[in-house]
Amino acid sequence: MLNSVELFESGMKTFPRRPYHISSDINYAGSGIIFANNDLVIQEAKVAVNRIAEDKEMLELFEDELGRLIDELKASERSDVDLNTALEKSVSKLAMTMIIGSKPTEANHKALTAYLQEVGVLFGGGKHFIMSAMPWLRYVPGPFKTTFDNMKARLGDLIDSFVSHFKDGKEGSRGIMSRMMTRKRELADDEHETEKLCDENIYAVAADFINGSIAPWSRSLVTVLLCILKHPEVQEKIHAELATVCPTSPPTDADRANLHYLQAAILEGLRYISVLTTTVPHMATEDTEFHGFLVPQGSTVFGTMGVMHHAENIWGDAWTFRPDRFLDASGQLLSKNNAERKSTRPFGYGPRMCSGYAVAEPYMFKYISKVLYHFSILPPAASELPDCDPRTFGFAGALVVPKICCRFEPRA
Ligand code: HEM
Repeated sequence: MLNSVELFESGMKTFPRRPYHISSDINYAGSGIIFANNDLVIQEAKVAVNRIAEDKEMLELFEDELGRLIDELKASERSDVDLNTALEKSVSKLAMTMIIGSKPTEANHKALTAYLQEVGVLFGGGKHFIMSAMPWLRYVPGPFKTTFDNMKARLGDLIDSFVSHFKDGKEGSRGIMSRMMTRKRELADDEHETEKLCDENIYAVAADFINGSIAPWSRSLVTVLLCILKHPEVQEKIHAELATVCPTSPPTDADRANLHYLQAAILEGLRYISVLTTTVPHMATEDTEFHGFLVPQGSTVFGTMGVMHHAENIWGDAWTFRPDRFLDASGQLLSKNNAERKSTRPFGYGPRMCSGYAVAEPYMFKYISKVLYHFSILPPAASELPDCDPRTFGFAGALVVPKICCRFEPRA
């Protein structure tokens, strides 16, 4: 467990490899990113995401989805909205758009729903712990084999639904899959390139961009909004700042630099809640001398953001949601080199840091800023708001966020 800033940063660089996990047997025979160790695939996927983050047409598609969400919330006419479902639906659309480079179809949505149901059976039921320890169980007729086979079949259907976008010469150049297919052809022509991309790698990356994105993204958005909802004085300050910086039109990328308090509130929400309390497991591939300790070959290594984000020696009142801790005396957001900022690593750190960062991070801001520009968020009429203290949440690999309903009051 790497639970200080120094150990976290150096550990993430020293141990960039992943151990075995049952998911890699489901996901195209050990390919992909999250539970694989193919440097070329990891690198090419990051390049593709970085390009998407700068692609005007892709960003327009993302904006369309945000516009649709705002319209959906307006149409709720101040009645209770299931926030978890609304945001999971929205980020699922964004994730699929990133993967295929165009708006997802009904067939994509159906295939995703069926796949996520099977993910729930494996991970929600905790069967993956047993299957990781005894992977041969998937060959023995019974509940483990059934879960494994069903999940693999539904993942195949989902990827087929993505691939259908590239059939009949329809292939564009904008989404992750088509960008990586282009790289595959370029590398195939390069006789010096020994580590080449293949279709299975690309399908597995698409699967990992589904597996790695929807839960952390939607749960982070939901919980930051819950913190703001539970602290009306924070919402008031955000609204006052929005009224000063962008009084007549929704916040733009250029406005972000002047929305110090809003940025501080998002950072504080990510720190305070820490939806991903640890990184994905890393592994020592050989006996390693690390900060005076011997880490034996094969050891599993975790970065424990949840511990670092709540260390009293860094934060003092670590279990209080207090956006001001990220502002200096003149109300400016602390610079990225500041000790507190460096101790806030919701996306991980180093070579295995979140592959979706270049889109996930700015869209945390875009979602929250647009929702708060258009609405005052109010507690639900028909139920109670849950506590926002993450110590009261469930845990299944990541924090399990309680159901949150709230009302959206349009701002004049
Ligand atoms: C607020 C949203 C998100 C948070 C907080 C988050 C956080 C993380 C963290 C902590 C890791 C593990 C790093 C490690 O093991 O060292 C990770 C890995 C990953 N994330 Fe994210 N993530 C988010 C959204 C996304 C999105 C939107 C995508 C894709 C579209 C994505 C794709 C991935 C992938 C593929 C990995 C595996 C990287 C690797 O193994 O090299 N994530 N993320």
